[in-house]
Amino acid sequence: PAQQPLQGVKVTITAGPTREAIDPVRYISNHSSGKMGYALATAAAALGADVTLISGPVQLATPTGVTRIDVTTAEQMYVSSMQQASNSDIFIGCAAVADFRVAALASQKIKKTADNDGLTLQLVKNPDIIASVAAMSAQRPFTVGFAAETEKVAEYARQKLQKKNLNLICANDVSDPALGFNSEQNAITVYSTTAEFALGQRSKTDLAQALISLIYEQYQHEKKH
Ligand code: C5P
Repeated sequence: PAQQPLQGVKVTITAGPTREAIDPVRYISNHSSGKMGYALATAAAALGADVTLISGPVQLATPTGVTRIDVTTAEQMYVSSMQQASNSDIFIGCAAVADFRVAALASQKIKKTADNDGLTLQLVKNPDIIASVAAMSAQRPFTVGFAAETEKVAEYARQKLQKKNLNLICANDVSDPALGFNSEQNAITVYSTTAEFALGQRSKTDLAQALISLIYEQYQHEKKH
């Protein structure tokens, strides 16, 4: 059998978009495919980790040996994440969580009328899941976030690392259509408070394997200090 260096290590990963209902037939969401999170779950499970994948709505099969929890909204993802986090060694927030949800969900389909030329939706902020995990006072897992940026990638990534109190942040430049959202290829730079690691352009599968190895190394390094 292949080497199982992550045997006994509990890894929780969020993946995919969240979906925020407007009325019974409409929602607000984003273009996240979930591929990166699913590739990370696959890579971690292949190394023997005990993997839980908290997934928004995606068109992907559950990786072999992975426990999958399906959620729809950011609030559901938050509840599930907080439940899993206290019993996780490593928490990786790969989901593209909707920053806002509709303040008042309409119970019936919103109708267009002859006298309305527009419609205003009031939105309220969703909880920041990964910042909440990283702020846990007891049983806090080693916490890894993602940052998809279109400019000043390093600067914004370092700001997020600090502001959300993460151990690592994985940053990718989504202004390049060949990389990031919905593509098969990706390139990522990982930042800790003291170092950075560049993982150049490669398939999401290869990138996920390199990322899991790097995250595990940094997790072990942190445990020793
Ligand atoms: O602030 P921003 O959305 O760019 O941060 C991205 C990181 O934060 C990702 O790791 C994402 O999964 C996480 N996040 C979260 N909850 C939110 C928003 C983002 O966990 N409400």
